[in-house]
Formats: sequence, structure tokens, C-alpha cells
Amino acid sequence: MTSVLVDGIGELVTNSPAVGDELGVLTNAALVVENHRIAWTGLSASAPEADHRIDAAGRSVIPSFVDSHTHLAFAGDRADEFAARMAGARYDGGGIARTVTATRSASDDDLRTLLAARMAEMRAQGTGTVEIKSGYGLTVEHEARLLRLASEVTDETTFLGAHVCPADTGPAEYLDLVTGPMLRACAPHARWIDVFCEPASPHAFDGDQARAVLTAGRAAGLGLRVHGNQLGHGPGVALAAEFGAASVDHCTYLSPTDVDALADTGTVATLLPGVEFATRSPYPGARMLIDAGIRVALATDCNPGTCFTSSMPFVIALAVREMGLTPMEALRAATAGGAAALRRDDIGHLGVGATALLTVLDAPSHQHLAYRPGVPIARVLDVTGKPNPWTEAFG
Ligand code: NIG
Ligand code: FE
Repeated sequence: MTSVLVDGIGELVTNSPAVGDELGVLTNAALVVENHRIAWTGLSASAPEADHRIDAAGRSVIPSFVDSHTHLAFAGDRADEFAARMAGARYDGGGIARTVTATRSASDDDLRTLLAARMAEMRAQGTGTVEIKSGYGLTVEHEARLLRLASEVTDETTFLGAHVCPADTGPAEYLDLVTGPMLRACAPHARWIDVFCEPASPHAFDGDQARAVLTAGRAAGLGLRVHGNQLGHGPGVALAAEFGAASVDHCTYLSPTDVDALADTGTVATLLPGVEFATRSPYPGARMLIDAGIRVALATDCNPGTCFTSSMPFVIALAVREMGLTPMEALRAATAGGAAALRRDDIGHLGVGATALLTVLDAPSHQHLAYRPGVPIARVLDVTGKPNPWTEAFG
């Protein structure tokens, strides 16, 4: 078993209250990785010996970002819709059909190449765990194919057959398909089920339809997630709370009842401010959620329609600048928050026993994630024992 000591860490953010101050932050720190897990964290001055030593040279080391909401399995491009929105057009989900057409006509290998490139792009920006949804197939065969391909690159796969109702199928008939044969074909490749519950979109699903999807998904043994309250007030958040879903995502339009419902459950509110940026919409009330004691996650929602960014640092910068989170609150939402949204306790922190997914910042503190927007300072750190992974990371 090889051990690696990462020494000379200017600021180590562990998210583990057992380490350092109450936020789990240590300065002049070190950590040891053994067998792909964190084996030790502490001050540099008391660091133990290890087989390999990496000098962080005063940089900040944080848990790798957990991007708990993406739609990476797609082909095609909708930049024209983005440009139209910047000129005043509104988003209503109608463009999803264009991506479905492009995705169905892509080969497995085309999609593998696209997925690999997007995963590499994310890792190169500090993301260590990625959730991927289906939802651009909308037939039994194509939804199962997207999940099979997604599960080649991540364990966190989500069946989103209930993304929109295809134009050539009636809603009742499509819902029967999603909750019957499609679910049976997709469940073996999925950990989660999701539904776009959005009565404000003529293409998505209302509360009763979403209830049917969640009920069937739960009976099939899948964990529950919901796209809710993105385009207007609606039943998505309350439904997610009622079902005890792991996460309800978007939460852009919330009523006081929604906030109370979330506060009464462990359902994480996953905020996707890149979507508000790219659809010119109001940002969700993150401060209100945090102040009500609700667990908040930040994720990219990387998709070709509402937000084609793979950058968690960009999302953190938006959360700080536009939603009033402190840099530390935003970092925790992008790491421990994402882990909670995926019900994982082995990622999103650097306590002893955690999976060794470390992100290094070419900066002395996590504050630089929002302070230097658009600058590529975050990388997942190779801790396999190479003598100088910094060269690989930052040139
Ligand atoms: O999370 N809102 C639904 N689904 C995606 C957008 C999908 C698309 O427009 O292609 C979202 O924003
Ligand atoms: Fe989404």
C-alpha cells in the first residue's frame, strides 16, 4: 500500500469539524493519502513520513467539487437559443426536442467521446464527482442507452425519462411508458429517478404526473430527485419534501410554505445559478434557505439549453456575487452540499476515511474561487504518487 504526503498546504479546507477550526480549516497543513482514502490530516510541523511527498507550496487544498446535477449525455448545440434569450426570448423547455433529435442520431461512440471530453473538462476545473441524467432519449431504447453510457463514466446516474413529453405522444400514454417499460429498462443503469415538475412549461409535467413518476421510481428501488419551481411557483418543491426526495433542484420560485416544507425534511435544495445567468432569470433566495437551516447544494446543471457551463468555480462566483453567500458557504454548498444531495458521506469532505478526491487551487485561499472569476485556478490533484503533479496541473 503506497502512501502520499501532501505537505506545505497554505490553507486546507476539510469540511470536517473534527479538524482545525469549526469550519474544518487548517493553515500550514498537510495530509496523507493511503489506498485512495484520507489517512491523516494535521499541521505540517507534525506530518508523518510517507512513501511519496508532494509540496503544495502554500496553495489551498479543498475537497473536490461534487456536481450533483448535470445533463451531460447529449449531442448537438443550441447556442442560437442562448443568443435569442439574451435578446429577450423566454425559456420554456421547448428547445429540449432539438437536443433529443440530435442525441438520438448520435452513435454510441459519438456520445462516449462527448461524455469523456465533458468529464475531462470538469476534472480540469476541480470537479471530482459528477451526477448525469438521461432525458434526451425519450424512448425506451434511447433512455436506456443514455444511462448505460453515462454509467460508464459515473456511478451517479439519474433516469429522467420524464423530462418532457415528446410531441408525437399523448401525456397519458407517455407517462404509462415512463412508469412502465421505460423504468424497467432504465432502472438497472440508474441510481436515481428525476422528473421535470413544472406546470409553467407546456412541455413538462404537473404535480399529479410527477407524483406518479416518483411513486413508480420509488417502487423500483430508485432514489428520488425533482426538477422543481424553475420557471414559476408550482408543486415541485412541496412534492419533493413530501416524498423525502434526496434533492429538489432549481428552487428559483419559492413560497413561504415551500420553505417550511423543506425545513421539515432532509431534502437538499440544489441551486443552479448558472441557469439564472443564462436564462436572464431572478436568482433563487439562497440566503433565505440557509438562514432557515435548509441544506443547500450548488451544481452546474450543465446542459445545452439552460446552462452550458461545466464550471463549479463559475457557479461559486455567481452564488457569492448574486446570491449573497459567503465564499465559504458557497464552497461548502459545492462540496459537502452536493455530497448530501447525493446522500454520500465519503465525498465532499477531507476527514479521515474520505475518498481522496482533492482539489488544489493555484491560490492561497478558497476566497479566490469567487475573487478571480473566470481564471482557471482549480484542478483535481493527482495523488497517485507522481513526484510533481503541480506541473501537470498548472504547467
Ligand atoms: O435543468 N429544466 C429542465 N431541464 C434542463 C434544461 C434542459 C434543456 O433545455 O435542454 C434544466 O434546466
Ligand atoms: Fe437540470
